[in-house]
Amino acid sequence: MIRLIKSPFYKSRHTTKKLSQFVRNTDWFSFGDSCLRFEDAFASYQKRKHCIMVNSGSSANLALLQALLNLGRLKKGDMVGFSAVTWSTNVMPIIQLGLIPIPVDVSLATLNVTPMELTKVIEKWPLKAFFATHILGMCDDMPEIVKLCKTHNVLLLEDTCESLGTAQNGTLLGNFGLASTFSYYVGHHLSTIEGGSVCTNDQELAEMLRVVRAHGWDRNLSLKDQGLWRKRFNINSEFYSRYTFYDLGFNLRPTEIAGFLGLIQLEYMSEIIQKRESNYNLLKTRVFDKNNAFNPIDTSHLSPYSSFAIPVVVKNIVDFGRLVDICKDVIEIRPLVGGDITQQPFFKKYSSYNDYPLPNARLLHTNALYIGNNPEMTKAELRRIQHILLKI
Ligand SMILES: Cc1ncc(COP(=O)(O)O)c(C=O)c1O
Repeated sequence: MIRLIKSPFYKSRHTTKKLSQFVRNTDWFSFGDSCLRFEDAFASYQKRKHCIMVNSGSSANLALLQALLNLGRLKKGDMVGFSAVTWSTNVMPIIQLGLIPIPVDVSLATLNVTPMELTKVIEKWPLKAFFATHILGMCDDMPEIVKLCKTHNVLLLEDTCESLGTAQNGTLLGNFGLASTFSYYVGHHLSTIEGGSVCTNDQELAEMLRVVRAHGWDRNLSLKDQGLWRKRFNINSEFYSRYTFYDLGFNLRPTEIAGFLGLIQLEYMSEIIQKRESNYNLLKTRVFDKNNAFNPIDTSHLSPYSSFAIPVVVKNIVDFGRLVDICKDVIEIRPLVGGDITQQPFFKKYSSYNDYPLPNARLLHTNALYIGNNPEMTKAELRRIQHILLKI
């Protein structure tokens, strides 16, 4: 069986050996020096001023929206657009935090939101923010989406949990908007087992994210920022300052184990991206460019294209059913992320609007699946996948 996730980390043996040494020699496992070092290293990899590490990509999405609410840049009841094909915990915090989720349809060629679809939604609904998901390592026309959001005063946020490392016109995904979120879950590009982060260049937002991440207190701010917060809130007592809770928060802190793992895995990023991209290109030339049973997918505007998984969109529903049957016990497959998320029970329960026209998301919900792609995939596994896909 070709599994979606093959191993917990890239270079697993080396990484687990280092991890056991780290565990033996460390006596502090809650958020600390390794997490801080990872934040610096990731911010510099991603070319952003600030990286705020949390315990998952879902937490990163939650923290980002809470921080924007705390700062008054979003208000309860504001409409937030999101990509109709996404993951549950991209949309759930929008609902949980009292914002109104508005889905935007995606393109069948890029699987992501196009400027045209976003325009249609902006013309109909007064969006305050657009939380784009770059699904499966891809995006549509981000420079145009940036322009559109600027023109209409819409905050652009990027869920980059599946697209670490992809760039469009030389800009890494995650660097087009005000802030971006990342996931370091096993099987994503960089694994810390569980983990995530928010990146931004905005100092005020970064400070608020650090407050939101840990109980609403100021302990993870720099000494200088701590001083400024205490002055602003008139906190003069040393005794109470450590237990002053400034604004709404959670406890979303990662552990030192995640920070340590992140530092090791980050060194392999370019190798990981290059191997995944080459796996994808091989299947593209040998299968998808040849067999017109599949909807063609366009990654020509991306360089590098940091492939997350192998998306398979089948034109005919009968062929799709056959493919699902053929893969059984041979290749582990799954729906395309969360499918059309408006079809999920949670969305139907909590959204009062249900008449969004989302034809492409609907088609991807019924006719698409994905196969894992990882840097340790062997030639034999790729041949097996090719053989199965060519049966359709
Ligand atoms: C687009 C997207 N956003 C957010 C998440 C949540 O990340 P995590 O699993 O680290 O909570 C995922 C998870 O796969 C995802 O695919």
